[in-house]
Amino acid sequence: MKQKLIGPFTQLLPMTGITVNGAVKDEQLLVIENGGIIVENNIIIAIGQYKDLLKQIDIKDTLLEEVKGDSVCLPGFIDSHTHICFGGTRANDYAMRNAGKTYLEISKAGGGIWDTVTQTRKASILELEDGITKRANKHLKNGVTTIEVKSGYGLSVYEELKMLRAIKNVDNRIKADLISTCLAAHMHPKDYSGTASEYLEEISISLFPLLKEERLTTRIDAFIEEGAFTAEVIAPYFKKAKEMGFTITVHADQFSTGGSKVAVDFNAISADHLEASTAEEIEILAKSTVIATALPGASIGLGCAFTPARKILDAGGAIAIASDHNPGSAPMGDLLTQASILGTFQKLSNAEILSGITFRAAAALNLKDRGVLKSGLLADFSAFPTSNYKEILYQQGQLKPEMVWKNGAKIDF
Ligand code: NIG
Ligand code: FE
Repeated sequence: MKQKLIGPFTQLLPMTGITVNGAVKDEQLLVIENGGIIVENNIIIAIGQYKDLLKQIDIKDTLLEEVKGDSVCLPGFIDSHTHICFGGTRANDYAMRNAGKTYLEISKAGGGIWDTVTQTRKASILELEDGITKRANKHLKNGVTTIEVKSGYGLSVYEELKMLRAIKNVDNRIKADLISTCLAAHMHPKDYSGTASEYLEEISISLFPLLKEERLTTRIDAFIEEGAFTAEVIAPYFKKAKEMGFTITVHADQFSTGGSKVAVDFNAISADHLEASTAEEIEILAKSTVIATALPGASIGLGCAFTPARKILDAGGAIAIASDHNPGSAPMGDLLTQASILGTFQKLSNAEILSGITFRAAAALNLKDRGVLKSGLLADFSAFPTSNYKEILYQQGQLKPEMVWKNGAKIDF
């Protein structure tokens, strides 16, 4: 393929030069005025001022992909935590919760995670694939070019395999990249007659080898919470996962603490949620290499507190921001809107929010080939119709990208 020069963009924010950890001010953001990007196949070859790139290229060998009007170019967003593989809906839960019903009352009325498990088990693999495709394409349209997707509504070897195969099949078909994670440890399945430890042992013995064999995922997640799994029960499961070479990630401190300590002890790549984290958890997370992932979509969906992102950043921690898109606690599924709102409640700079949905999210997925725009990395980026990058978060998700490129190709919506 011929190389392409894409631009000029009124402003281009490569998101380079900022560390993964700690607070960052907008003044530290590099903004290239009238920027451009040279792309060959799926890779960025050069980045800089459009007029300089024009001088650098051989015009016979370069296609000019002109961008008209005002535009701000950002790296493709990365949503490092979603549950977009599911059957059914939980609109009933949402209505009941807003009408003041408790978690227990909703669960007794047939709602909660188990309801989605039942509906996901009823769905065929093709129906699941259809749902993932629609949701992932909507994210892509909003500038999200990489999406993590968890299983966790199957809760048996057979049903978890169905979910992970569906995610893999869709990843092979669509433009966005899907990064799968096994969340068989989402809750103790109601139809499993043994103990929580026996369930986890069965999953680790029967499912883990198949995940490797079919290359379904390299990541293992667990929900550490009262009513889900305790630190003690999860320890042998995570130990086995690590021995087999899986990367660990944790649903931690959502309603009660304990999960972030598990994440640090097992050297997890990320600890996600953290709404209930106190000074103690913030300190151990900030001192560790674990990426702390805020999930504002769950706070908005449940009407709960936000992750203390400000305190985590000020303590020197790394904050990624993800949508947690799922039918129960985070039905909205709009990363940019949620990240903007988290920013207003947690007093985050543009630089911190945009880092959280680009390279800091890439770090939470251990992806070194994306998240910033620089030569040698994937040509994943989007253009918003404005001349000032500050408009993007100011408009709280209502300003959508006009164009999105994935692997160097402009997506045709
Ligand atoms: O990340 N916290 C646990 N799991 C999901 C909720 C899943 C559901 O309610 O269906 C979460 O918020
Ligand atoms: Fe989640």
